[in-house]
Amino acid sequence: MDKLIITGGSQLSGELRISGAKNAALPVLAATLLSEEPVSIGNIPHLHDITTTMQLLGQMGIRLTIDEKMNIEVDSSSITKYEAPYDLVKTMRASILVLGPLLARFGEAHVSFPGGCAIGTRPVDIHIDSLIKMGADIRVEAGYIHAKASRLKGCKLVLDKVTVTGTENLLMAAVLAEGVTIIENAAKEPEVSDLALFLNAMGAKISGIDTDILTIEGVLKLDAKNIHYNIIPDRIEAGTYLVAAAITKGRVLLKDVRPDLLDAVIDKLREAGADISTGDDWIELNMHGKKPKAVNVRTAPYPAFPTDMQAQFTAMNSVAEGVGIITETVFENRFMHVQEMQRMGADIQLESNTAICKGINQLTGAPVMATDLRASASLVLAGLVAKGETLVDRIYHIDRGYDHIEEKLSQLGASIRRISG
Ligand code: EPU
Repeated sequence: MDKLIITGGSQLSGELRISGAKNAALPVLAATLLSEEPVSIGNIPHLHDITTTMQLLGQMGIRLTIDEKMNIEVDSSSITKYEAPYDLVKTMRASILVLGPLLARFGEAHVSFPGGCAIGTRPVDIHIDSLIKMGADIRVEAGYIHAKASRLKGCKLVLDKVTVTGTENLLMAAVLAEGVTIIENAAKEPEVSDLALFLNAMGAKISGIDTDILTIEGVLKLDAKNIHYNIIPDRIEAGTYLVAAAITKGRVLLKDVRPDLLDAVIDKLREAGADISTGDDWIELNMHGKKPKAVNVRTAPYPAFPTDMQAQFTAMNSVAEGVGIITETVFENRFMHVQEMQRMGADIQLESNTAICKGINQLTGAPVMATDLRASASLVLAGLVAKGETLVDRIYHIDRGYDHIEEKLSQLGASIRRISG
Protein backbone atom coordinates (compact mmCIF):
# COMPACT_ATOMS: atom_id res chain seq x y z
CA MET A 1 0.00 0.00 0.00
CA ASP A 2 1.39 3.43 -0.93
CA LYS A 3 2.31 5.97 1.73
CA LEU A 4 3.28 9.64 1.66
CA ILE A 5 6.32 10.95 3.53
CA ILE A 6 6.24 14.66 4.25
CA THR A 7 9.02 16.68 5.85
CA GLY A 8 7.43 19.76 7.37
CA GLY A 9 8.72 23.29 7.45
CA SER A 10 8.70 24.59 3.86
CA GLN A 11 6.79 27.79 3.21
CA LEU A 12 4.77 27.00 0.07
CA SER A 13 4.92 29.38 -2.86
CA GLY A 14 3.98 29.06 -6.53
CA GLU A 15 1.26 28.47 -9.11
CA LEU A 16 -1.07 25.53 -9.71
CA ARG A 17 -3.75 24.48 -12.16
CA ILE A 18 -6.90 23.12 -10.53
CA SER A 19 -8.42 19.91 -11.96
CA GLY A 20 -12.02 19.16 -12.87
CA ALA A 21 -14.40 18.48 -9.97
CA LYS A 22 -14.63 14.86 -8.84
CA ASN A 23 -18.14 15.32 -7.47
CA ALA A 24 -19.36 16.82 -10.77
CA ALA A 25 -17.54 14.32 -13.02
CA LEU A 26 -19.07 11.29 -11.24
CA PRO A 27 -22.77 12.24 -11.76
CA VAL A 28 -22.06 13.54 -15.28
CA LEU A 29 -20.50 10.20 -16.23
CA ALA A 30 -23.52 8.40 -14.74
CA ALA A 31 -25.82 10.71 -16.73
CA THR A 32 -24.26 9.59 -20.01
CA LEU A 33 -26.39 6.43 -19.48
CA LEU A 34 -29.40 8.57 -20.44
CA SER A 35 -28.11 9.56 -23.86
CA GLU A 36 -29.06 7.75 -27.06
CA GLU A 37 -26.05 9.35 -28.77
CA PRO A 38 -22.34 9.14 -27.84
CA VAL A 39 -21.23 12.09 -25.66
CA SER A 40 -17.82 13.50 -24.88
CA ILE A 41 -16.79 14.85 -21.46
CA GLY A 42 -13.75 17.09 -20.90
CA ASN A 43 -11.78 18.40 -17.88
CA ILE A 44 -12.08 14.98 -16.21
CA PRO A 45 -9.72 14.74 -13.22
CA HIS A 46 -7.16 11.96 -13.07
CA LEU A 47 -8.55 10.09 -10.04
CA HIS A 48 -9.19 6.61 -8.78
CA ASP A 49 -12.95 7.28 -8.44
CA ILE A 50 -13.05 8.10 -12.16
CA THR A 51 -11.36 4.78 -12.97
CA THR A 52 -13.92 3.00 -10.77
CA THR A 53 -16.80 4.76 -12.58
CA MET A 54 -15.32 3.77 -15.94
CA GLN A 55 -15.08 0.17 -14.71
CA LEU A 56 -18.66 0.34 -13.50
CA LEU A 57 -19.94 1.56 -16.88
CA GLY A 58 -17.56 -0.79 -18.73
CA GLN A 59 -18.86 -3.90 -16.96
CA MET A 60 -22.39 -2.92 -18.09
CA GLY A 61 -21.11 -3.29 -21.67
CA ILE A 62 -20.78 0.44 -22.33
CA ARG A 63 -18.01 1.60 -24.68
CA LEU A 64 -15.68 4.25 -23.24
CA THR A 65 -12.69 5.84 -24.91
CA ILE A 66 -10.30 8.15 -23.15
CA ASP A 67 -7.60 10.32 -24.73
CA GLU A 68 -4.35 11.63 -23.29
CA LYS A 69 -6.06 14.90 -22.25
CA MET A 70 -8.61 12.98 -20.15
CA ASN A 71 -11.52 13.59 -22.53
CA ILE A 72 -13.84 10.61 -22.19
CA GLU A 73 -16.25 9.56 -24.91
CA VAL A 74 -19.13 7.37 -23.73
CA ASP A 75 -21.43 5.36 -25.97
CA SER A 76 -24.13 3.63 -23.95
CA SER A 77 -25.87 2.01 -26.95
CA SER A 78 -23.95 -1.24 -26.32
CA ILE A 79 -25.28 -1.71 -22.74
CA THR A 80 -26.01 -5.34 -21.81
CA LYS A 81 -26.37 -5.25 -17.98
CA TYR A 82 -28.19 -2.87 -15.65
CA GLU A 83 -26.16 -3.65 -12.56
CA ALA A 84 -23.75 -1.97 -10.13
CA PRO A 85 -22.08 -4.88 -8.29
CA TYR A 86 -20.99 -4.85 -4.65
CA ASP A 87 -17.23 -5.06 -5.36
CA LEU A 88 -17.37 -1.67 -7.13
CA VAL A 89 -20.01 0.05 -4.96
CA LYS A 90 -18.13 -0.83 -1.75
CA THR A 91 -15.11 1.20 -2.94
CA MET A 92 -17.16 4.17 -4.12
CA ARG A 93 -20.56 5.12 -2.72
CA ALA A 94 -21.18 7.43 -5.68
CA SER A 95 -21.96 4.25 -7.69
CA ILE A 96 -25.51 4.75 -6.38
CA LEU A 97 -25.73 7.48 -9.05
CA VAL A 98 -26.43 4.90 -11.76
CA LEU A 99 -29.75 3.95 -10.10
CA GLY A 100 -31.79 6.93 -11.40
CA PRO A 101 -30.56 6.92 -15.01
CA LEU A 102 -30.71 3.11 -15.46
CA LEU A 103 -34.25 3.01 -14.16
CA ALA A 104 -35.39 6.01 -16.21
CA ARG A 105 -33.96 4.84 -19.53
CA PHE A 106 -34.02 1.03 -19.33
CA GLY A 107 -36.79 0.46 -16.76
CA GLU A 108 -34.53 -1.70 -14.61
CA ALA A 109 -31.59 -1.32 -12.17
CA HIS A 110 -29.81 -3.60 -9.72
CA VAL A 111 -27.50 -1.59 -7.50
CA SER A 112 -25.63 -2.90 -4.49
CA PHE A 113 -26.64 -1.14 -1.28
CA PRO A 114 -23.78 1.20 -0.33
CA GLY A 115 -24.05 0.72 3.44
CA GLY A 116 -22.10 2.77 5.99
CA CYS A 117 -18.71 4.35 5.61
CA ALA A 118 -16.04 6.06 7.69
CA ILE A 119 -17.82 9.43 7.88
CA GLY A 120 -21.22 8.18 9.04
CA THR A 121 -24.13 5.88 8.24
CA ARG A 122 -25.03 7.74 5.01
CA PRO A 123 -28.39 6.14 4.17
CA VAL A 124 -30.03 6.34 0.71
CA ASP A 125 -33.64 6.28 1.93
CA ILE A 126 -34.46 9.61 0.25
CA HIS A 127 -33.27 8.29 -3.15
CA ILE A 128 -35.39 5.13 -2.77
CA ASP A 129 -38.57 6.69 -1.28
CA SER A 130 -38.64 9.41 -3.94
CA LEU A 131 -38.22 6.92 -6.81
CA ILE A 132 -41.11 4.90 -5.33
CA LYS A 133 -43.20 8.12 -5.36
CA MET A 134 -42.36 8.39 -9.06
CA GLY A 135 -43.87 4.95 -9.63
CA ALA A 136 -40.84 2.66 -9.30
CA ASP A 137 -41.22 -0.80 -7.87
CA ILE A 138 -38.26 -1.22 -5.49
CA ARG A 139 -37.22 -4.09 -3.28
CA VAL A 140 -34.06 -4.43 -1.22
CA GLU A 141 -32.84 -8.00 -1.15
CA ALA A 142 -29.51 -9.64 -0.32
CA GLY A 143 -27.80 -6.26 -0.12
CA TYR A 144 -29.09 -5.08 -3.50
CA ILE A 145 -31.62 -2.44 -4.53
CA HIS A 146 -33.72 -4.02 -7.31
CA ALA A 147 -35.76 -1.36 -9.12
CA LYS A 148 -38.25 -1.63 -11.99
CA ALA A 149 -40.57 0.81 -13.74
CA SER A 150 -42.27 0.95 -17.12
CA ARG A 151 -42.03 4.75 -17.31
CA LEU A 152 -41.49 6.88 -14.22
CA LYS A 153 -44.13 9.51 -13.52
CA GLY A 154 -43.39 13.12 -12.65
CA CYS A 155 -44.61 14.30 -9.23
CA LYS A 156 -43.77 16.75 -6.46
CA LEU A 157 -40.92 15.62 -4.22
CA VAL A 158 -40.11 17.46 -0.99
CA LEU A 159 -36.81 16.11 0.25
CA ASP A 160 -36.54 15.55 4.04
CA LYS A 161 -32.88 16.54 4.02
CA VAL A 162 -30.64 18.35 1.58
CA THR A 163 -28.88 15.52 -0.22
CA VAL A 164 -26.40 16.02 -3.04
CA THR A 165 -26.37 12.59 -4.71
CA GLY A 166 -30.06 12.17 -3.82
CA THR A 167 -30.96 15.33 -5.77
CA GLU A 168 -28.70 14.17 -8.63
CA ASN A 169 -30.28 10.71 -8.82
CA LEU A 170 -33.78 12.18 -8.86
CA LEU A 171 -32.86 14.80 -11.47
CA MET A 172 -31.55 12.05 -13.76
CA ALA A 173 -34.65 9.92 -13.15
CA ALA A 174 -37.01 12.85 -13.79
CA VAL A 175 -35.63 13.97 -17.16
CA LEU A 176 -37.19 10.94 -18.91
CA ALA A 177 -40.30 10.69 -16.68
CA GLU A 178 -43.82 11.32 -17.93
CA GLY A 179 -44.95 14.84 -16.98
CA VAL A 180 -43.41 17.37 -14.61
CA THR A 181 -41.32 16.62 -11.52
CA ILE A 182 -40.71 19.31 -8.92
CA ILE A 183 -37.89 18.70 -6.42
CA GLU A 184 -38.20 20.95 -3.36
CA ASN A 185 -35.42 21.35 -0.79
CA ALA A 186 -33.04 20.26 -3.56
CA ALA A 187 -29.28 20.53 -3.00
CA LYS A 188 -27.83 23.71 -4.57
CA GLU A 189 -24.22 22.49 -4.66
CA PRO A 190 -22.44 23.69 -7.83
CA GLU A 191 -21.89 20.05 -8.80
CA VAL A 192 -25.70 19.53 -8.89
CA SER A 193 -26.00 22.59 -11.17
CA ASP A 194 -23.20 21.26 -13.38
CA LEU A 195 -25.10 17.99 -13.81
CA ALA A 196 -28.34 19.89 -14.59
CA LEU A 197 -26.56 22.00 -17.23
CA PHE A 198 -25.12 18.84 -18.79
CA LEU A 199 -28.57 17.21 -18.86
CA ASN A 200 -30.03 20.32 -20.52
CA ALA A 201 -27.21 20.26 -23.08
CA MET A 202 -28.35 16.70 -23.92
CA GLY A 203 -31.95 17.89 -24.41
CA ALA A 204 -33.47 17.76 -20.91
CA LYS A 205 -35.82 20.52 -19.70
CA ILE A 206 -34.70 21.54 -16.22
CA SER A 207 -35.40 24.96 -14.73
CA GLY A 208 -34.61 26.47 -11.33
CA ILE A 209 -30.91 25.51 -11.63
CA ASP A 210 -28.85 26.95 -8.70
CA THR A 211 -31.99 27.17 -6.53
CA ASP A 212 -33.55 24.70 -4.09
CA ILE A 213 -36.61 24.13 -6.30
CA LEU A 214 -35.85 22.22 -9.49
CA THR A 215 -38.58 21.76 -12.08
CA ILE A 216 -38.10 19.04 -14.66
CA GLU A 217 -40.36 18.61 -17.63
CA GLY A 218 -39.92 15.00 -18.76
CA VAL A 219 -38.96 14.25 -22.38
CA LEU A 220 -39.16 10.96 -24.29
CA LYS A 221 -35.47 10.73 -25.04
CA LEU A 222 -32.17 12.58 -24.91
CA ASP A 223 -30.64 12.38 -28.35
CA ALA A 224 -28.69 15.61 -28.92
CA LYS A 225 -25.71 14.93 -31.19
CA ASN A 226 -22.05 15.94 -30.89
CA ILE A 227 -22.19 16.98 -27.24
CA HIS A 228 -18.89 17.92 -25.63
CA TYR A 229 -19.20 19.08 -22.02
CA ASN A 230 -16.44 20.41 -19.76
CA ILE A 231 -16.66 19.66 -16.03
CA ILE A 232 -16.41 22.63 -13.60
CA PRO A 233 -13.19 23.08 -11.60
CA ASP A 234 -12.91 21.29 -8.25
CA ARG A 235 -13.72 23.83 -5.51
CA ILE A 236 -12.61 21.45 -2.75
CA GLU A 237 -9.24 20.75 -4.38
CA ALA A 238 -8.81 24.53 -4.76
CA GLY A 239 -9.80 25.14 -1.12
CA THR A 240 -7.34 22.48 0.05
CA TYR A 241 -4.40 24.18 -1.75
CA LEU A 242 -5.47 27.58 -0.39
CA VAL A 243 -5.26 26.11 3.13
CA ALA A 244 -1.89 24.51 2.25
CA ALA A 245 -0.53 27.97 1.49
CA ALA A 246 -2.22 29.56 4.52
CA ILE A 247 -1.02 26.95 7.02
CA THR A 248 2.60 27.30 5.80
CA LYS A 249 2.44 31.16 5.89
CA GLY A 250 3.01 31.03 2.14
CA ARG A 251 1.54 32.19 -1.14
CA VAL A 252 -0.27 30.44 -3.99
CA LEU A 253 -1.82 31.40 -7.30
CA LEU A 254 -4.52 28.97 -8.44
CA LYS A 255 -5.53 28.92 -12.09
CA ASP A 256 -8.53 27.35 -13.89
CA VAL A 257 -10.63 27.81 -10.78
CA ARG A 258 -14.09 29.31 -10.04
CA PRO A 259 -13.68 31.76 -7.11
CA ASP A 260 -17.45 32.43 -7.13
CA LEU A 261 -18.02 28.86 -5.89
CA LEU A 262 -15.69 29.35 -2.91
CA ASP A 263 -17.20 32.41 -1.18
CA ALA A 264 -17.64 30.79 2.26
CA VAL A 265 -14.11 29.32 2.21
CA ILE A 266 -12.50 32.57 0.99
CA ASP A 267 -14.35 34.57 3.70
CA LYS A 268 -13.00 32.26 6.41
CA LEU A 269 -9.46 32.42 5.01
CA ARG A 270 -9.63 36.24 4.98
CA GLU A 271 -10.83 36.09 8.60
CA ALA A 272 -7.75 33.93 9.28
CA GLY A 273 -5.59 36.80 8.01
CA ALA A 274 -5.02 35.79 4.38
CA ASP A 275 -4.66 38.45 1.73
CA ILE A 276 -6.78 37.11 -1.17
CA SER A 277 -7.35 38.49 -4.67
CA THR A 278 -9.55 36.89 -7.29
CA GLY A 279 -10.30 37.15 -11.02
CA ASP A 280 -12.78 35.26 -13.19
CA ASP A 281 -10.72 32.06 -13.17
CA TRP A 282 -7.92 32.61 -10.66
CA ILE A 283 -7.36 33.09 -6.92
CA GLU A 284 -4.21 34.33 -5.23
CA LEU A 285 -3.64 33.89 -1.51
CA ASN A 286 -0.74 35.47 0.35
CA MET A 287 -0.05 35.18 4.08
CA HIS A 288 2.98 37.52 3.87
CA GLY A 289 4.82 35.16 6.23
CA LYS A 290 2.20 35.50 9.00
CA LYS A 291 0.70 32.67 10.99
CA PRO A 292 -3.08 32.16 10.41
CA LYS A 293 -5.57 33.18 13.12
CA ALA A 294 -7.94 30.47 14.38
CA VAL A 295 -11.48 30.70 12.95
CA ASN A 296 -14.88 29.30 13.90
CA VAL A 297 -16.48 27.18 11.21
CA ARG A 298 -19.94 25.61 10.93
CA THR A 299 -20.52 23.22 8.03
CA ALA A 300 -23.86 23.14 6.18
CA PRO A 301 -25.13 22.61 2.63
CA TYR A 302 -24.05 25.07 -0.10
CA PRO A 303 -23.67 28.05 -0.14
CA ALA A 304 -22.60 27.67 3.54
CA PHE A 305 -19.18 26.32 4.53
CA PRO A 306 -18.65 22.85 2.93
CA THR A 307 -18.23 19.74 5.08
CA ASP A 308 -15.58 18.67 2.54
CA MET A 309 -13.33 21.54 3.80
CA GLN A 310 -13.90 20.91 7.53
CA ALA A 311 -10.90 18.62 8.12
CA GLN A 312 -8.51 21.00 6.31
CA PHE A 313 -9.62 23.92 8.53
CA THR A 314 -9.24 21.73 11.63
CA ALA A 315 -5.59 21.23 10.57
CA MET A 316 -5.14 24.98 10.06
CA ASN A 317 -6.71 25.84 13.44
CA SER A 318 -4.44 23.33 15.17
CA VAL A 319 -1.41 25.58 14.50
CA ALA A 320 -3.21 28.94 14.34
CA GLU A 321 -3.16 31.90 16.73
CA GLY A 322 -5.96 31.45 19.29
CA VAL A 323 -8.91 29.08 19.62
CA GLY A 324 -11.22 27.98 16.79
CA ILE A 325 -14.47 26.04 17.11
CA ILE A 326 -15.45 23.70 14.30
CA THR A 327 -19.04 22.45 14.17
CA GLU A 328 -19.95 19.63 11.77
CA THR A 329 -23.67 19.50 10.94
CA VAL A 330 -23.74 17.41 7.74
CA PHE A 331 -22.19 14.06 8.76
CA GLU A 332 -22.29 12.61 12.27
CA ASN A 333 -18.84 11.07 12.34
CA ARG A 334 -16.52 13.27 10.37
CA PHE A 335 -13.80 13.92 12.95
CA MET A 336 -11.63 10.83 12.43
CA HIS A 337 -8.66 13.08 11.60
CA VAL A 338 -8.74 14.65 15.09
CA GLN A 339 -7.39 11.56 16.80
CA GLU A 340 -4.49 11.41 14.33
CA MET A 341 -3.75 15.14 14.73
CA GLN A 342 -3.71 14.64 18.51
CA ARG A 343 -0.96 12.06 17.92
CA MET A 344 0.97 14.87 16.24
CA GLY A 345 0.53 16.98 19.39
CA ALA A 346 -2.58 18.99 18.41
CA ASP A 347 -4.66 20.41 21.25
CA ILE A 348 -8.18 19.56 20.04
CA GLN A 349 -11.10 18.64 22.25
CA LEU A 350 -14.07 16.80 20.75
CA GLU A 351 -17.56 17.35 22.15
CA SER A 352 -20.19 15.53 20.05
CA ASN A 353 -20.27 17.40 16.71
CA THR A 354 -17.87 20.15 17.81
CA ALA A 355 -14.08 20.30 17.81
CA ILE A 356 -12.46 22.97 19.95
CA CYS A 357 -9.00 23.62 18.53
CA LYS A 358 -6.42 25.52 20.56
CA GLY A 359 -3.62 26.54 18.24
CA ILE A 360 -0.16 25.33 19.31
CA ASN A 361 3.27 26.50 18.20
CA GLN A 362 4.32 23.36 16.40
CA LEU A 363 2.97 19.93 15.54
CA THR A 364 5.36 16.99 15.60
CA GLY A 365 5.68 14.58 12.67
CA ALA A 366 4.35 11.08 13.34
CA PRO A 367 3.06 8.02 11.46
CA VAL A 368 -0.66 8.66 10.87
CA MET A 369 -3.48 6.77 9.22
CA ALA A 370 -5.81 8.21 6.63
CA THR A 371 -9.46 7.23 7.20
CA ASP A 372 -11.36 9.03 4.45
CA LEU A 373 -10.59 11.34 1.60
CA ARG A 374 -10.73 14.77 3.25
CA ALA A 375 -9.31 13.47 6.55
CA SER A 376 -6.30 12.23 4.58
CA ALA A 377 -5.83 15.62 2.96
CA SER A 378 -5.93 17.30 6.37
CA LEU A 379 -3.18 14.99 7.65
CA VAL A 380 -1.01 15.94 4.67
CA LEU A 381 -1.61 19.61 5.53
CA ALA A 382 -0.67 18.97 9.16
CA GLY A 383 2.48 17.20 7.94
CA LEU A 384 3.49 20.27 5.93
CA VAL A 385 3.95 22.29 9.14
CA ALA A 386 4.99 19.54 11.55
CA LYS A 387 8.54 19.27 12.86
CA GLY A 388 10.26 16.32 11.22
CA GLU A 389 8.72 13.55 9.19
CA THR A 390 5.04 12.60 8.88
CA LEU A 391 4.19 9.27 7.30
CA VAL A 392 0.61 9.17 5.99
CA ASP A 393 -0.59 5.59 5.52
CA ARG A 394 -3.59 4.28 3.50
CA ILE A 395 -3.37 7.07 0.96
CA TYR A 396 -5.62 5.22 -1.48
CA HIS A 397 -8.25 7.53 0.02
CA ILE A 398 -6.33 10.57 -1.28
CA ASP A 399 -5.91 9.03 -4.73
CA ARG A 400 -9.70 8.73 -4.92
CA GLY A 401 -10.10 12.51 -4.89
CA TYR A 402 -6.85 14.48 -5.37
CA ASP A 403 -5.26 14.60 -8.80
CA HIS A 404 -1.44 14.12 -8.44
CA ILE A 405 -1.35 15.65 -4.95
CA GLU A 406 2.35 15.04 -4.31
CA GLU A 407 3.36 16.53 -7.69
CA LYS A 408 1.18 19.59 -7.10
CA LEU A 409 2.49 20.16 -3.56
CA SER A 410 6.11 19.60 -4.71
CA GLN A 411 5.52 22.23 -7.39
CA LEU A 412 4.78 24.65 -4.52
CA GLY A 413 8.01 23.68 -2.75
CA ALA A 414 6.75 21.05 -0.29
CA SER A 415 8.99 18.16 0.65
CA ILE A 416 6.69 15.22 -0.05
CA ARG A 417 7.24 11.85 -1.69
CA ARG A 418 5.31 8.64 -2.27
CA ILE A 419 6.66 5.27 -1.25
CA SER A 420 5.19 1.94 -2.26
CA GLY A 421 4.72 -1.10 -0.09
N1 EPU B 1 -28.91 11.52 3.88
C1 EPU B 1 -29.98 10.79 4.35
N2 EPU B 1 -30.71 10.03 3.44
C2 EPU B 1 -30.41 9.99 2.11
C3 EPU B 1 -29.31 10.75 1.64
C4 EPU B 1 -28.58 11.50 2.55
O1 EPU B 1 -30.27 10.80 5.53
O2 EPU B 1 -31.11 9.29 1.36
C5 EPU B 1 -28.11 12.33 4.82
C6 EPU B 1 -26.65 11.86 4.94
O3 EPU B 1 -26.51 10.80 5.85
C7 EPU B 1 -25.95 13.13 5.40
C8 EPU B 1 -26.75 14.23 4.68
O4 EPU B 1 -28.00 13.64 4.31
O5 EPU B 1 -26.07 13.29 6.78
C9 EPU B 1 -26.08 14.78 3.44
O6 EPU B 1 -25.62 13.74 2.62
P1 EPU B 1 -25.56 13.81 1.03
O7 EPU B 1 -26.52 12.84 0.48
O8 EPU B 1 -25.68 15.23 0.60
O9 EPU B 1 -24.10 13.29 0.76
P2 EPU B 1 -23.64 12.48 -0.51
O10 EPU B 1 -24.49 12.89 -1.66
O11 EPU B 1 -23.55 11.03 -0.18
C10 EPU B 1 -21.95 14.21 -1.47
C11 EPU B 1 -20.49 14.22 -1.81
C12 EPU B 1 -19.68 14.20 -0.52
C13 EPU B 1 -20.05 15.44 0.29
C14 EPU B 1 -21.57 15.47 0.56
C15 EPU B 1 -22.04 16.73 1.26
C16 EPU B 1 -20.43 13.11 -3.95
C17 EPU B 1 -20.04 11.92 -4.75
N3 EPU B 1 -20.18 13.06 -2.63
O12 EPU B 1 -22.18 13.01 -0.73
O13 EPU B 1 -18.31 14.28 -0.89
O14 EPU B 1 -19.38 15.43 1.53
O15 EPU B 1 -22.28 15.37 -0.71
O16 EPU B 1 -21.70 17.85 0.55
O17 EPU B 1 -20.90 14.09 -4.50
C18 EPU B 1 -15.99 13.92 -0.65
O18 EPU B 1 -15.85 14.37 -1.81
O19 EPU B 1 -15.02 13.71 0.13
C19 EPU B 1 -17.34 13.63 -0.15
C20 EPU B 1 -17.57 12.85 0.90
